[in-house]
Amino acid sequence: MIKSIKNICCIGAGYVGGPTMAMMANKCPNLIFNVVDINKERIAAWNNEDLSKLPIFEPGLKEIIKNSRNKNLFFSCEIKKAIESADIIFISVNTPTKTKGLGAGKCSDLKWVETSAREVAKFSKGHTIVVEKSTLPVRTAEVIQSILNSTNCNSSSNKKSFSVLSNPEFLAEGTAIKDLESPDRVLIGGDNKKAMDLLSDIYKKWVPEEKILFTNIWSSELAKLTSNAFLAQRISSINSISAICEVTGADIREVSRAIGKDKRIGSKFLDSGPGFGGSCFKKDILNLVYLAEYFGLGEVAKFWEEVVNINNWHQKRIAKIVVQKLFGTISGKKIIILGFAFKANTNDTRESAAIKICKDLIDEGAELIIHDPKVSSLQIQHDLQTKPKSQINEKNESSLNNKLGNWKFSKKLDIFENAHAILVLTEWEEYKNINWESVIVKMAKPAWLFDSRSIVNVELVKKAGFNLWRLGDGSQKE
Ligand code: NAD
Ligand code: UGA
Repeated sequence: MIKSIKNICCIGAGYVGGPTMAMMANKCPNLIFNVVDINKERIAAWNNEDLSKLPIFEPGLKEIIKNSRNKNLFFSCEIKKAIESADIIFISVNTPTKTKGLGAGKCSDLKWVETSAREVAKFSKGHTIVVEKSTLPVRTAEVIQSILNSTNCNSSSNKKSFSVLSNPEFLAEGTAIKDLESPDRVLIGGDNKKAMDLLSDIYKKWVPEEKILFTNIWSSELAKLTSNAFLAQRISSINSISAICEVTGADIREVSRAIGKDKRIGSKFLDSGPGFGGSCFKKDILNLVYLAEYFGLGEVAKFWEEVVNINNWHQKRIAKIVVQKLFGTISGKKIIILGFAFKANTNDTRESAAIKICKDLIDEGAELIIHDPKVSSLQIQHDLQTKPKSQINEKNESSLNNKLGNWKFSKKLDIFENAHAILVLTEWEEYKNINWESVIVKMAKPAWLFDSRSIVNVELVKKAGFNLWRLGDGSQKE
């Protein structure tokens, strides 16, 4: 076993690998961090001189990258070199849901984890601590350990050995830097005390010792999945109640505030919205469902699967409401979509509610103008699987009315001319300050504003003359 850590390698320079290693590099200036990835474009973006071109948008990220990059933090595609010199290797690659084969649609595809483990087995030297940073199904550490042990890469001059630890990441996008700077807890699962101590020494540079929890490896893997399942369950719960509010005259904001005051429930994660998105909640719950099914726990599997089912239903519900309110048809109507990211303060659109809702509205014949301050038109194109109209050209509007399934993208907010409705899907700060009086004069009447994030000022919107629909607002009951 090594005595101390000097060189760290992270395989995977994504939403987790990049910010996590940048935080560690900031806090541990005496250690060297090599973040490697197979994606050359992503690495080039991490190395871009212009910090506004980093591959991910995250408040506070630029600053910590600037502090450490090319001092003790390096981004490259030199995987072999980084593994060879590493005392500790974080595996931080993607683990999406399998699309085919055994467990398709539920369990995680571990092919990127497996490739990483094989690379570690091949290139590592001496004793290496291998850390699962990716979110993985329970007992994956066993798989990693057996890949590391079974690859025939030992030689008399290089006797290899490994300690596998689980150290799941709990950061949320949009607040990643804050979450990394002051985490609620750091979880380290394993059975090798020395390796666990060496990993915790890194965190101890800035995380209070009482927040560092040691568990066995399986508890650590399961705690990560459970944590996401509990958070997502709260959102599905509150969104299901929002539908009850709308038919009974109650208001979801008042209900959330009232139940959140109960210390046993707590006030966080009770904001009703268009349905949870992001790359992990759905995937991690489905992993839990798969695990339960695998062990014959059918009732447990059904319980958790319903959290995902309600979320799908809820997203469909929002598109339906827009159609109903616009006299049962949106064919040829121009609808402004405010926000495409799955939440504010990120450019990430993975599993964003906006994807399903926009697709449904396009299928109904609407023409969408999509705005998002950080998401690119190209990303939306990828998500909607259709190309946008090349540019916003009001003169062509009548001829375009015949074409169903249209969308355009705008980086600016001067897009309200002749629109029938506005639908807020992401809670970006700039949408809170829109001057609704000047917007409504440009719109077709009656002008509708659908707020799925409870961010607009109700009084100002109503004063401007909008028909307002808010999620879970029973005062609008007909
Ligand atoms: P990501 O897709 O943004 O990044 C993964 C990176 O790994 C990609 O850049 C990919 O090119 C790279 N990669 C894949 N195989 C590789 C290989 N063999 N060698 C080198 N690089 C390789 O994913 P992410 O959002 O960073 O998530 C990574 C893991 O962390 C997932 O398991 C996820 O569940 C978990 N997680 C994510 C978040 C989040 O907020 N995104 C939070 C906590 C945990
Ligand atoms: C989530 C967890 O919060 C992290 O702890 C975890 O590390 C991460 O997943 C992961 O494993 O990937 P993230 O998905 O980045 O983080 O963002 P959240 O803030 O959890 O939001 C997820 C979704 O729920 C978003 O669509 C958000 O708009 C929605 N949400 C969140 C609500 O609708 N209401 C709320 O009250 C909170």
